[in-house]
Amino acid sequence: MKVIKYLLIGSLFLVATACSNGATEEQIEVADAEKTAMQLYQNNCMSCHGNDLSGRVGPGLQQVGSKMTEEKLIEIITVGSNGMPGYENVLSIEEIGQLAKWLSEKKE
Ligand code: HEC
Repeated sequence: MKVIKYLLIGSLFLVATACSNGATEEQIEVADAEKTAMQLYQNNCMSCHGNDLSGRVGPGLQQVGSKMTEEKLIEIITVGSNGMPGYENVLSIEEIGQLAKWLSEKKE
């Protein structure tokens, strides 16, 4: 009986280490993209859209992904909108793309 117990604990331990070890390259890339987008947001957008995307001068963006496509988001960020500046000359196309992708995932 004791042996079985040890075996069980042993295999649980193995499973646990296998899982904690497993941040795949893809997950790391996703985490990096998220971090970059958040930094871009903080530097360029937060003053108007709030530090938790809940909105201030500009509308809240917490669910903007269920309202707009990634393409539409790129368009708004690039050319701006009423009361919102365009970022054509401020951010690179890649940066605008990263922000748009990140925002397009904001939905509930
Ligand atoms: C000077 C303030 C200001 C800044 C800075 C700003 N925005 Fe805005 N944003 C606004 C306003 C105001 C609107 C509403 C425009 C309208 O009603 O047409 C808006 C609208 C939007 C929308 C459309 C939301 C909706 O529900 O219609 C998105 C998406 C957006 N902003 C993203 C961004 C991103 C991303 C940044 C940073 C790169 C940013 N904004 C920076 C003021 C700002």
